[in-house]
Amino acid sequence: MTAITERTVVGVVGAGAMGAGIAQVAAQRGHAVVLADAFPAALARAREGHAKAMAREVEKGRLARDAADAVLARITYVEGVTPAALRAFEPCGVVIEAIVEDLAVKRALFRDLETEVAKDAILATNTSSLSIAAIAGACAHAERVVGLHFFNPAPVMPLVEVIPAITTAPAVTDAAKALAERWLKVVVVAADTPGFIVNRVARPFYGEALRIAEERIADPATIDWAMKEHGKFKMGPFELMDFIGNDVNYAVTCSVYEGMFQDPRYRPSLIQRRLVEAGLLGRKTGRGHYDYRADAVLPEPSRHQATGRQIVERILAMLVNEAVEAVRLGIASPHDIELAMLRGVNYPKGLLAWGDEIGPRHVLETLESLQAEYVEDRYRPSPLLRRIVRDGGRLLP
Ligand code: NAI
Repeated sequence: MTAITERTVVGVVGAGAMGAGIAQVAAQRGHAVVLADAFPAALARAREGHAKAMAREVEKGRLARDAADAVLARITYVEGVTPAALRAFEPCGVVIEAIVEDLAVKRALFRDLETEVAKDAILATNTSSLSIAAIAGACAHAERVVGLHFFNPAPVMPLVEVIPAITTAPAVTDAAKALAERWLKVVVVAADTPGFIVNRVARPFYGEALRIAEERIADPATIDWAMKEHGKFKMGPFELMDFIGNDVNYAVTCSVYEGMFQDPRYRPSLIQRRLVEAGLLGRKTGRGHYDYRADAVLPEPSRHQATGRQIVERILAMLVNEAVEAVRLGIASPHDIELAMLRGVNYPKGLLAWGDEIGPRHVLETLESLQAEYVEDRYRPSPLLRRIVRDGGRLLP
């Protein structure tokens, strides 16, 4: 495998939200980029988006006009993903796949791609919910396939999760890390398990909030208020679900839930399912948990201080427990788990450090009281949390 440098040609397949963003990042970092999509209209939209993004850079004084033009000139747009079209990827040292989230379609693409690229080219996937092993399994040389998970929008969000599959060669993982670092990203390494780091550890932020609403302990407006006022989160869970799209958020939850063999910690919510069924997807459809239409009146939170604190305590205990479990199961290093939540979803504090601040014993007691009340496995405390409390240690070593 040759080292990746500025001269490495970068391939991107899929010119949607993620692929277009990744192509832009690569071109801005000096690489020649080959960007392909099965649909000419998607490619045209990406090209337009790139021109607009560069115009904005010039307008804001971040880039000279000729430098912006040079970025645009480095991107070659390729229509179609037929074997003939894929020949355009022959000079690439790395190809990043960002097509539709469908295992069969991705496997077919990797199979075709493998025969068209150089023998030492790295093949990466930006999948957010599929197993890297399952995608790599389509290739004769699975050792060069790795997960490279960007966040949306890729040019703005600093985090990249690098996910080696069981079959990935360590040198390929290292090269993927080096590449993302060279693109000035914050890089963390995650195990090939459902949701990787961020989409796994963040589940209780939505799931426990939905559960509290479902039990009518508080309404969405009050829960959002509590998480911002007392939790110092930038957005409340319901605002964020409406922003992400309830369809997208629900799909991620279902995928993690199924991927974890229906562990009750990740169980989806009927509230969200009904919203999705009704087409109330959030901001993009004008209605979700909240009503965004022009004449709508936003609901007022109840602002009951004690309830607010209880809500935050419960959701935070679940989040901290999830982070501790991720440490125990080796999903990532404690340092990377902290970094991922700080930089991938802008949490105000790393969850392990936050748990230390609250006190590991207090977190454990909150979970134990929920477990006793509901008699549900959902609230089982991590064995590592118990051990740390017993030994008087810290969650963040
Ligand atoms: P998107 O729907 O915006 O873009 C997908 C693109 O792939 C479309 O332009 C489509 O025309 C093209 N496409 C579909 N099938 C194709 C094929 N067989 N060959 C070539 N092109 C094909 O989707 P988005 O959001 O960009 O997602 C792409 C991938 O990135 C998915 O795997 C998704 O899970 C992942 N991802 C998405 C994030 C997000 O927030 N949207 C965040 C991180 C990862």
